[in-house]
This record gives sequence, structure tokens and C-alpha cells, in this order.
Amino acid sequence: MVTMEIARQQVAQSDTAQRVAALNHNDRPFHAVLAQQFDRANVEQICQLADMIRSIAESRQGSQYLRTLLSHRRAMLYFIQPSTRTFLSFTAACQIVGTPYSEVRDRSTSSEVKGESEDDTIRTFSQYFDFIIMRHPVEGFAEHVARMLNSMHRPIPVINAGSGKDQHPTQALLDIYTLYRAFADPAAPRGEPRYTKNIFAGKTIAFVGDLKRGRTVRSLTYLLCRYPGVRLVFVSPPELRIGDDILDHVQRHNIEHEFQDDVRANIGDYDAIYMTRLQDEHDVAGESKKIDYYRYSLTYEMARDFKPGLAIMHPLPRRHELDERLDALPQAKYWGQVQNGMWARAALIATIFNVDGPIRDHYQAYYTF
Ligand code: NCD
Repeated sequence: MVTMEIARQQVAQSDTAQRVAALNHNDRPFHAVLAQQFDRANVEQICQLADMIRSIAESRQGSQYLRTLLSHRRAMLYFIQPSTRTFLSFTAACQIVGTPYSEVRDRSTSSEVKGESEDDTIRTFSQYFDFIIMRHPVEGFAEHVARMLNSMHRPIPVINAGSGKDQHPTQALLDIYTLYRAFADPAAPRGEPRYTKNIFAGKTIAFVGDLKRGRTVRSLTYLLCRYPGVRLVFVSPPELRIGDDILDHVQRHNIEHEFQDDVRANIGDYDAIYMTRLQDEHDVAGESKKIDYYRYSLTYEMARDFKPGLAIMHPLPRRHELDERLDALPQAKYWGQVQNGMWARAALIATIFNVDGPIRDHYQAYYTF
């Protein structure tokens, strides 16, 4: 525990560039722990690769080809926080690229109950598996694990599938992928051109709800700051405002932004609305119970004021902040967002293990005319 504390303090002290350098190899993500690791080129390549993978996977031969790519790798899913989508999305992504996986979802079944440190548990995983996908309640722990594994005899990648209130970088990748697909010109051909221009310039994206404790919003904001000309509106109760570290990042990147405390104000201005639920599992003494979340909810009646091209997003799970009757509208992108996550994560795993080149070659050879 003491070593973990020291490691976390060291992590907090080093600046972002150093932190990113420890997680990337040759400007590519080796680990995927922080959204700041992904520049525009990385993001665009992953989106493009995700499109290629989903096209290739449509046929039996194509999906058989994909399954040969990483069948010699094994994944460990260490998920000790609740998860439905992210866990299944990663298992499906592993299946797409042929990677067998194992899981630990409950600490009470691990040797941690015999007094083993969590670091040793993870060192053990590193002897059986070729990468670790982890969801963990402690902020910074995935980064600590990445650094710890860097110093092992055989370093293996760590993918952060959600770390406390802090980051959820793979959700941010799938969110950007979803936004790209939502904003893209439907007449544009599949493949490269779609992801090489800044389609976010001039777009207004509203983040709504518990922005203080929602890790998805934090990671996605980091990625959106890569797109000059995007405008961000943070709509939250005053006590659940987005963290100062994120605002500082937004300001340093000269991204136009404003604050609102009711989603209904200016609803017709938004090109995307990113909804989030109240993260009350982080309450200390039920303090968020008094918040009127209606101001941060979308009802069916509001739809008449939506822009026709609006993209409604939600990382899910939802509660009452997003009316189920909205699901049928063309603006509702959140179910597609779930599926996009599987393709984007398959693309990320392929990128980390350097099989993105063969996938591109395969696509060029068989899927372009
Ligand atoms: C989110 C998470 O776990 O941070 N869910 C997800 O991974 N899609 C959002 C949430 O729990 O509200």
C-alpha cells in the first residue's frame, strides 16, 4: 500500500508530457491509460481502422481473417468495478481479433484475500497474459500499473477501461468515433477522407449532468481539445461543475466554452448533447439527493427544439435523464455508440499490437474498388 501511495504521488508530480512518454512507444500508444496520449492522428487512425474492421468483419472470410491476427495473444480483464457495456465490448473486441481472454471481476475470489498486494496480483497476471484491460475504482491506479509493468522483465500493455472519477479513454475514443460518424457527410465514401478533416470546427457540443464525477466527460474533453474551433458548453449543477484541471486544459488550448445550469436554455444551438447520469455512488453523505436533475434531463417534449442534425449521446447506463421515447428519433446516437465501442476497441487493440498495417493492406486489397 505504501509503495502504491508513493507511486501515485510520483505520478501526480510529473507533468503530462512525461506521463504520456511513459505510456507511449514511438509516438504510438503502448498502454492506453490517459486520453492525453491520443493526438489527432492517433484518433483518426483508430476511427478509420474501426471502419475497416467493421467492413471486413461483415463476411465469414473477413471475420476469419481478423481472428487470425491476434490469436497468439491472451487478454486479462480485471474489472473490479461494476460494468456491463465496457466489459462486454472488450470481450467482443477480443473475439473480433481472435484473442482469448480471462476475467477477474470480484476481488474476493483472488489471493488478495490472503493478504497479497494488488501489485503482486497484477504482476501475476503479467506472467500469463499479453495485456491487461482494467476497470478500477482508484484514480491513477491504471497509470501506476502501467509504470510498474514497464519495469518488469516483459512489459505488457495496460488498457484503462475506467479509473475512478478520473478517466475513461477508450470511451472517449468511441465517443469521438460516434461523433465523426454522426457529423460526417453521408455521401462521403467510407475510409480515409472521412477522418482527416476537422469536422468539429464550428460545432457546439454540450456536456450535461454530473460533470464533476463523470470520467467519460473528462476524457472526451481532452480529445475534443485536439480540434480547434469546437465550442463546448458545460451544463451542470454548480456543485457538480467540471474539474478545474479540465478547464485549465480547455483554456490552454483556446477552446471556446461556457457554462449553463439548465439544458433547456439554448437547446436549439447544440450539434451534440452528451448526457450523463448522476454519479451518486461517489456521494459521501447523500449530498446530491437535493439536486433537481430535471434541469439536466432530456424529455420527449424538448425534441421539437432540437437541430435536425443533432447527435444525442450517452455513455450509458441511463436513469431518468434521457427519456426512452427519444430512442426512436434519428438524433438518438447512443445505441449506435454502444456498438461503435466494440469496433473502436478492436481497432485500439490492433493498433497496440501493430496489426493495423496488415488490416489496412487487407482492406485496400479486397474492399476498395
Ligand atoms: C460510464 C462509466 O463507467 O464511467 N459507463 C460506461 O463505461 N459506458 C458512465 C457511467 O457509469 O455513468
